[in-house]
Amino acid sequence: MPSLSDHFEFETVREVPESHAWTSLDDHPSYEATGHDKLPIISLSNSSDNDNTKLLLRHACQHFGVFYVTGHGISTNLLSELELQTRRLFSLPTDQKLKAARPPDGLSGYGLARISSFFSKLMWYEGFTISGSVLHHARQLFPDDYFRFCETIEEYKKEMQKLAEKIIRLMISSLGVKEEELNWSKDLSGVFQLNSYPACPDPDKAMGLAAHTDSSLLTILHQSGTSGLQVLRREDGHGPTRWVTVPPVAGALIVHVGDLSHILSNARFHSVLHRAIVNRYRHRYSMAYICGPSPEVKVKPLNSLNESPVFRSMTWPEYLSLKGKLFNQALHSIRVIS
Ligand code: SIN
Ligand code: FE2
Repeated sequence: MPSLSDHFEFETVREVPESHAWTSLDDHPSYEATGHDKLPIISLSNSSDNDNTKLLLRHACQHFGVFYVTGHGISTNLLSELELQTRRLFSLPTDQKLKAARPPDGLSGYGLARISSFFSKLMWYEGFTISGSVLHHARQLFPDDYFRFCETIEEYKKEMQKLAEKIIRLMISSLGVKEEELNWSKDLSGVFQLNSYPACPDPDKAMGLAAHTDSSLLTILHQSGTSGLQVLRREDGHGPTRWVTVPPVAGALIVHVGDLSHILSNARFHSVLHRAIVNRYRHRYSMAYICGPSPEVKVKPLNSLNESPVFRSMTWPEYLSLKGKLFNQALHSIRVIS
């Protein structure tokens, strides 16, 4: 199993070493989506037209599993400051970053991709996970100057929590679900993940982040101005399966539908398989707010849907522990109707 001692200084490597050389990058061809296949861009600014927004969201969650949102209310200044602080963190010397290493069973800190244990090859990636307060790790990383880093992360997390709640409520009520069944969505929890994909001398051989679905209700992603995210999609909904690039769109954030939304919606909404590829010239960063219900909430198909539940109920931590064992088979394993 890969470990933290496998970290190396990406910037100094001139050739992709065997430990990071993947052979399965071309499992499906890649293409740029056009026409009907273009990923939806949904504006959240027109709150008076909730019904139309809900329709668009429902369609996006059913047919794409990923969409852009604009009019989200997050200021450009905050996004720029977040990018700046993310770059600052990952450009620290490796020894300094390792002072804030994520312990083997821990939730927070610097380390390899969380899904690394499922693969024999390492990814062209380093990450920093924040669960709860960032203060402790910020002090380890920047002993003399951690205030701005903490302030930016905490402010962004607060904004993300509000935005996630808004989107989840719209998504769920788009299914005609009664207000009472949404009470738990006022108390969501989240994990914040900063991702770094250094420039790579041979991007056709290296994997940024291997294909996975998110275990969340939804994930809100901001990517620095470099493409890298791809989602697996059937062309026109029924054609061949392809990796579709999800390029950065100015002013828009990306939303991934997570596995828990697939469960809640009784399999109407789709958690999309996605991955990140790397770039020969540019260091790419992304920042993901991974949002789910409070740990004690039992997630199950919504009663208001009035149909036999396809999945058994479980809490988010229970689902995460299942995913930690079964990875992309976890959803299938909790189906009660196949
Ligand atoms: C993720 O899947 O969490 C991140 C993908 C990306 O960096 O675009
Ligand atoms: Fe993801």
